[in-house]
Amino acid sequence: MKSDFLKGKRGLIMGVVNENSIAWGMAKALAANGAELAFTYQWSRSLPTVEPLAKELGVDILIPCDVRDEEAVPAAFKELEEKWGKIDFVIHSMAFSKKAELDGLFRDTSRKNFEMSMTISAYSFIEVARYAAPLMNEGGSLVTLSYFGAEQVIPNYNVMGVCKAALEASVRYLAADLGPEGIRVNAVSAGPIMTSAGSGIQDFNFLIDWNAVNSPMRRTVTLEDLGKAGLYLLSDLGSGVTGEVLHVDSGYHTVGMLATDLDSVRKNKALLEQVEKDLVEREKAAK
Ligand SMILES: NC(=O)c1ccc[n+]([C@@H]2O[C@H](COP(=O)([O-])OP(=O)(O)OC[C@H]3O[C@@H](n4cnc5c(N)ncnc54)[C@H](O)[C@@H]3O)[C@@H](O)[C@H]2O)c1
Repeated sequence: MKSDFLKGKRGLIMGVVNENSIAWGMAKALAANGAELAFTYQWSRSLPTVEPLAKELGVDILIPCDVRDEEAVPAAFKELEEKWGKIDFVIHSMAFSKKAELDGLFRDTSRKNFEMSMTISAYSFIEVARYAAPLMNEGGSLVTLSYFGAEQVIPNYNVMGVCKAALEASVRYLAADLGPEGIRVNAVSAGPIMTSAGSGIQDFNFLIDWNAVNSPMRRTVTLEDLGKAGLYLLSDLGSGVTGEVLHVDSGYHTVGMLATDLDSVRKNKALLEQVEKDLVEREKAAK
């Protein structure tokens, strides 16, 4: 989809690290429809992959912002205010937890990793809203990225499920805070898609394949699907929507059981056999 219906709109994209990033899928959709963008990036290590992408969309505002640093979010919005004055939207597409804790038992979550994961993955969105709001034009919109593991137990998602639950609750409280100022706040709950962050979750390939076999649409989502959802929530198309968690997951969240048509049963069987093999191998390696 290409148009100039977002011409004159400006927004900050937080969370592009490479061409697989969900934030990149959304950035491309926004730019293709005329929006002017600025990016934040986590640290200088990300620049070799982020800079060429920024260039591709004509983005010349690139701001370092590691949200573990208390000064980073206010500094990023100060810089944006100096360069642009006002903004229309922000995408918050950042999360992190130690890989070792996205595996095994949830009860083994350490206090240190719990605090860090919550700060990066949930609290940072509250901060972003606090510093973005004063810069926002009427009709401003904030979008963050969540996952179904906030609502239901997903193996190995562990502490990130709790972070996403906090993030989704924050969306509702922020929507209530900012609604009177004409600012909308929503989340996109994305189906599993292979990215750097996703690959940190144990057995992530299985999760992707399971979703593809058992979702009503019998496929996983693409960056284009997510880009279009971002376009809807971040533009005037979503003008009456706030405090919402929009599932963009091929409908996976609506099903209560695995698919039982013959083709899907066979695919599920093959997937489970592979999981069994992997578990046996892991058990052997652990001995
Ligand atoms: N990939 C999936 O299947 C999936 C599904 C649902 C939701 N999500 C969510 O989408 C969002 C984007 O993830 P992605 O899958 O595109 O992966 P990604 O690895 O491309 O993006 C994650 C981003 O978080 C940033 N980040 C991590 N720690 C940070 C810090 N301390 N300060 C600043 N930035 C930091 C990284 O630099 C990166 O840009 C995350 O919130 C993730 O939980 C992903």
